[in-house]
Amino acid sequence: MTDTLTICRPDDWHLHLRDGAMLKAVLPETVRHFGRAIIMPNLVPPVVTGAQALAYRERILAAAPGVGLFEPLMTLYLTEDTDPADVAEAHASGLIKAVKLYPAGATTNSASGVNDFDKVRPVLEKMAQIGLPLCVHGEVVRDDVDIFDREAVFIDTVLDPLRRATPGLRVVMEHITTKDGVDYARDAGPSVGATITTHHLVINRNHLLVGGIKPHYYCLPLAKRETHRLALRAAATSGDPTFFLGTDSAPHLDKDKESACGCAGCFTATNTMSILAEVFEQEGALDKLEGFTAHHGPAFYGLPVNETTITLTKGSPVPYPAKIDTPEGPLTVFDPGFALHWRVEA
Ligand code: DOR
Ligand code: ZN
Repeated sequence: MTDTLTICRPDDWHLHLRDGAMLKAVLPETVRHFGRAIIMPNLVPPVVTGAQALAYRERILAAAPGVGLFEPLMTLYLTEDTDPADVAEAHASGLIKAVKLYPAGATTNSASGVNDFDKVRPVLEKMAQIGLPLCVHGEVVRDDVDIFDREAVFIDTVLDPLRRATPGLRVVMEHITTKDGVDYARDAGPSVGATITTHHLVINRNHLLVGGIKPHYYCLPLAKRETHRLALRAAATSGDPTFFLGTDSAPHLDKDKESACGCAGCFTATNTMSILAEVFEQEGALDKLEGFTAHHGPAFYGLPVNETTITLTKGSPVPYPAKIDTPEGPLTVFDPGFALHWRVEA
């Protein structure tokens, strides 16, 4: 029986760090295990220019001791006013690694996102030209589309036409939650990658809703039915380089989640690697954990893998904090609902 596993240090290809006191509270949870992370730009106000991304990067690097070994990979938030020249300059300087597309109204702080895709055409064309990936929150925001169908409808009515209209555009389908997403990404060829979160490998919509609503399992895109969760697990553990880890770890204070109109987001930074080791072991695929967490993402983004390693050891259940404290109150760490036996060695 394997009980020690040494892998290249993993990266998180989709992470929310926020700002200020929250940034200081959550950053150590990621820095402990991960070498790099793609940093989401949906702050209030959003990170829309190269100058704002540079300033945010400096705040991140100043926010935690030991953060010097961690590399935040910055992104810009795409708006209908985004300047293609600013994007190209931020990319050429090495500052940004992607641009994030939020359909307006799709999720937390997405009000400045895109309504009219014609308005962002010049930016997308510039990105295709310079090879800069577009990270896509793939859900339509239409009253006539059921919230559980938003991803599948987005693929057919927005993503596929957008890709056809913009040859060469590299796309990351972020936090896919459906078999439709798995199939599209797998069949789309090397210009498309897809991130999968830790929590979507663990929960389906029953976990969210049966026996009382569980606000800490509420995220967007919503967890779907079990067939979709199984498709995600098969994709993540397949060894196919299309699929890589993007935790979408998204901290919100408990008071904002446990409310009449609760915020979307699961906070998984603390225990993600232990959960993933457990999931991959359940699937008989521990040998695929390194590819999913440490190799496929850098390959898509054209970056080297991390030079350092982490070691996981299997033993008695691994303790982790139920909550992380911040000056404004606690936030809850994702509970996978099963014991974790793989510990990341210090
Ligand atoms: O659950 C989510 N939380 N999904 C998103 O797309 C945004 C994120 C957040 O920023 O809280
Ligand atoms: Zn996200």
